Amino acid sequence: MTVATMNETIRYPDSFLGLSELGKKPTPYKPTYQFAGSHINDNHKYYSNCPTGHKDIQVCIDIGIEGYLQQGDAQKLYELAYFSSGDILELGTFCGLSTSIIAQAIYDSKREIRFETVDIDKDANEKAQKNVLSKTGRAPVKFNILDATEYLDKAIAAGKSYGFIFVDHWHGYEATYEAAMRAKKLLKNGGFCLFHDYNDPANTDPEHVYGVYKGANDAMLCDPNFEFYGLFGCTALFRKSI
Ligand SMILES: C[S@@+](CC[C@H](N)C(=O)[O-])C[C@H]1O[C@@H](n2cnc3c(N)ncnc32)[C@H](O)[C@@H]1O
Repeated sequence: MTVATMNETIRYPDSFLGLSELGKKPTPYKPTYQFAGSHINDNHKYYSNCPTGHKDIQVCIDIGIEGYLQQGDAQKLYELAYFSSGDILELGTFCGLSTSIIAQAIYDSKREIRFETVDIDKDANEKAQKNVLSKTGRAPVKFNILDATEYLDKAIAAGKSYGFIFVDHWHGYEATYEAAMRAKKLLKNGGFCLFHDYNDPANTDPEHVYGVYKGANDAMLCDPNFEFYGLFGCTALFRKSI
């Protein structure tokens, strides 16, 4: 079942998976916004068929920047950035793989969207700045070196708001929950929050550090102002519905 909402976005409630089902079913890219054709443009389509096999992991895209995104993740990131109704925040820059996809989409959309990305790793950030520049050339990105929770608290205190927040930093329960609770305050009405590594079987292992599935669900699912919008690649999408 899909649900087309009044403001022309598409929800996939049936793609929700229980904990024991994570990583067992294909969850390919599907559009959230309504647009003609299967992809927005050639840059978006590229991620449906781009090289994979980064570090011999067959599902990870291999486009010249170190990182662990699937084709479905990359297509969803591009789409959400292209259509974002407000500024964009990314938690977890690493070497700039997702950053470059978001930056390219903003550039292609020809809209005035501010894009901030946050990480604590200075060395990786130097690589990210070079990678984003060489991939996108001209897309504006503000790189920040700070703990994600601290950054979010400062953003709340400064009265910032975002149309799209991508959560991909530390994948433990506490860090994810802290980010999700703060993202709820920072998102504009109708804004989207995308969690990476939500649909990953590591979340089922109590010995593993991953707590994205539980952290995101505990913050989002019980909140009547948020709706589950679907699984795409290994990401989960939630929307602030009012
Ligand atoms: C999975 S990687 C991000 C991947 C990136 N989005 C990409 O597409 O390649 C996670 C990043 O989060 C950063 N990180 C870990 N804990 C953090 C924290 N508390 N605050 C901000 N960044 C953090 C790490 O330094 C690392 O670069």
